[in-house]
Amino acid sequence: MGVATVLGIETSCDETGVGIVADGRLLGAALASSMDEHARFGGVVPEIAARAHLESLVPCLDAAFADAGIAPRDLDAVAVTSGPGLATALHTGVAAAKALAAAWNLPLYGVHHLAGHVAADTLEHGPLPGRCVALIVSGGHTSTLLLGDLARDPIVHLGDTRDDAAGEAFDKVARILGLPYPGGPAIDRAARGGDPDAIAFPRGLLGAGPDFSFSGLKTAVARLVERERRPLADVAASFQEAVVDVLTRKAVDACRAHGVRTLVIVGGVAANARLREVAAARCAAAGLALRVPPPALCTDNGAMIAAVGDLLTTAGAEPAPLTLPITPTAP
Ligand code: KG4
Ligand code: ZN
Repeated sequence: MGVATVLGIETSCDETGVGIVADGRLLGAALASSMDEHARFGGVVPEIAARAHLESLVPCLDAAFADAGIAPRDLDAVAVTSGPGLATALHTGVAAAKALAAAWNLPLYGVHHLAGHVAADTLEHGPLPGRCVALIVSGGHTSTLLLGDLARDPIVHLGDTRDDAAGEAFDKVARILGLPYPGGPAIDRAARGGDPDAIAFPRGLLGAGPDFSFSGLKTAVARLVERERRPLADVAASFQEAVVDVLTRKAVDACRAHGVRTLVIVGGVAANARLREVAAARCAAAGLALRVPPPALCTDNGAMIAAVGDLLTTAGAEPAPLTLPITPTAP
């Protein structure tokens, strides 16, 4: 293992994230969000997000260096999210990272946003075991992946959503229930004290292979709300239970099917309290080790991008040229 100190920049959506990681350890970080500016639109407006990154990035860089107690001369590499994400938003971070890499004469790494989500867990729990299944649940993705060595081995896709991502389902259902954006944390809170068995919402594609589907569930919530008045806490808890039930069952099934002993759950929805609780119980029952980063490392941040940069640097990976493109629709 080499010794590397890496700056990570994340601007794929509405969070401006900067993190500094050295040898698998988080040294310092800063985060700014344009979330409040998108709330009245019920979702992220790319142009607003990009303008906010432009304003927040330098203050976040300053804050992250202050938090880490190091200077730019202490860095060994710059890593930045190159995709997937919103094009205009990605653009701001990638342009900034290129400028910094050129000015400081440092290697540049373009990082896949989802690799960042997975690597976030290594900052809390150390290197991943050789093989594991990752359940990635965010606003844009719901996938199960079979992972080996993050810096070297190919990632094998096991299951994907056929329609809405899990976080998207939380956001859309929150809107139906009159709760604010982002919907995940709002439903997480509203569900506390609610009865998760009050309403038997559909479990999309349960028992039908590794893929996910959440659009039928969203429609079922909309129909129920039109038809009858039920306590908000019960609707929120029952919806959340349907999502959590399917996610955890399919993730545990994927581990069993591939003879893997460790499940890693990452992405914004991994911050969900009920998901963490049910996953812990089901993994324990199945004899699986469960790894979930702390909530602040589940949602988008710069540290997770620095963590991948650190893995790439120590693995001796080839840096990106300063012509590095953005890949908004990277698979
Ligand atoms: O990973 P992330 O920060 O950004 C993307 O890459 O998409 O995930 C954001 C998603 C949003 O849909 C948000 O509603 C959801 O994660 N989320 C949650 C919670 N916190 C964030 N969903 C359920 N429960 C939460 N506590
Ligand atoms: Zn994300």
